[in-house]
Amino acid sequence: MVRETQKILVIDDSPVNLEILSELVNDDCEVLCALSGEDGIGLALRVHPDLILLDVMMPVMDGYEVCARLKSDPLTRGIPVIFITALNQEEDETRGLELGAIDYVTKPINLPIVRARIRNHLELKRTESVLQERTELLLRQQQQLEALNRELEQRVATEVKKSREKDQALMQREKMASIGQLAAGVAHEINNPMGFISANLGILADYFDRVVRFDRIQREIGIAAPPELRQVILNHRRSLDLDHLLEDGVNLIYESLGGAKRVKKIIEDLKSFSHVDQAEKAPVALSSCLESALNICSSQLSGVATIRKEYSPVPELLCHPGQLNQLFLNLLVNAGQAMVRPGEIVLRCWHGAPFVCVSVSDSGRGIPEELRERIFEPFFTTRDVGRGTGLGLSVSAEIIKNHQGELLVESVVGRGSTFTVRIPVAPCR
Ligand SMILES: Nc1ncnc2c1ncn2[C@@H]1O[C@H](COP(=O)(O)OP(=O)(O)OP(=O)(O)O)[C@@H](O)[C@H]1O
Ligand SMILES: [Mg+2]
Repeated sequence: MVRETQKILVIDDSPVNLEILSELVNDDCEVLCALSGEDGIGLALRVHPDLILLDVMMPVMDGYEVCARLKSDPLTRGIPVIFITALNQEEDETRGLELGAIDYVTKPINLPIVRARIRNHLELKRTESVLQERTELLLRQQQQLEALNRELEQRVATEVKKSREKDQALMQREKMASIGQLAAGVAHEINNPMGFISANLGILADYFDRVVRFDRIQREIGIAAPPELRQVILNHRRSLDLDHLLEDGVNLIYESLGGAKRVKKIIEDLKSFSHVDQAEKAPVALSSCLESALNICSSQLSGVATIRKEYSPVPELLCHPGQLNQLFLNLLVNAGQAMVRPGEIVLRCWHGAPFVCVSVSDSGRGIPEELRERIFEPFFTTRDVGRGTGLGLSVSAEIIKNHQGELLVESVVGRGSTFTVRIPVAPCR
């Protein structure tokens, strides 16, 4: 490190003294002189000397006042001051030291001793300056480290968030894939037996129809039979309860056919769910996605809520039907879970250009104002531990984002909530 030339300011009203004092100073130091306290303070402010040698007895402003002023100004407070004076009473020295001087030298002075003292004080000042510089450097480094630390913490938080979102997307994909597989498996297994049950019921209906027709013919012919024979036939009809059997049989067969048709519909819905992962877009009416989702969870909702539908015709959208099925399923399941007592879920579809809208309203417990933003956060749930993952709405919001749409929520605590999906009619990307 290059040693800077140190500066010493000598303040004394006597030019002779100034000269003597200047000689005390080492050759490698720069000496500055002031003949009055006022000038000395001005110089000290301008050049910031490393040491001040100060006389006490001076006209206008004595050395004590100069020292007091220097020590009261933050800009000069740190400059060490040595009094060099003819005042040799103990109280004079005490006063000088109390004012903040680091040394008090009385005249006549012993040159080698004073020189040594000055050297020591200058060395001390140099060490102090180095220390101060190092402390400042350390402080700056600490601040830089703290800033770096904050930046790192922020980066880690961002990375954690990103990876959490990735995990969430992965979980959702896996969840959907396993639902899809399950749905496809169930649909496949049920599809075959349902095929022959429906076909056989159709044939049975035809056979039964023929039996009923034959019975009608037989009854018409029976009218012409002798009375005893007619009575025997009538008794058999009654004992077999044939009239009721034939009438109810037809009903049973047609009811079963209706049931088989419903099962077929559920299979179709399951199949549409099994395509949840498909990347291709398909033209679809949101109302049919809503219906598919409803069929999937209707057993979960029965006894919990009655379903009222208010559907207006809606145009088809080029969308990812599997994703929209999942979205509506999430909303319907949430609506069912929000019920405190059996209530009503109202499903609405309408075309409010440029959007197709679907809303799911429930008469459940509602969502407190302070939670309304948070419900879309991944993993936010108010359900018991292990009951809800808290992913339903965040995934739904993501699906809506994929379709450039919006998911709006209105809610009144104790009265219920309405989730409205709005998707632009223009084909999504
Ligand atoms: N219709 C609703 N009525 C009242 N609260 C609701 C409704 N829908 C959602 N919420 C609130 O939002 C929270 C988050 O819902 P979300 O569907 O994301 O997760 P979850 O239902 O708790 O769990 P899961 O992952 O099983 O869906 C719920 O825990 C619930 O507090
Ligand atoms: Mg949910």
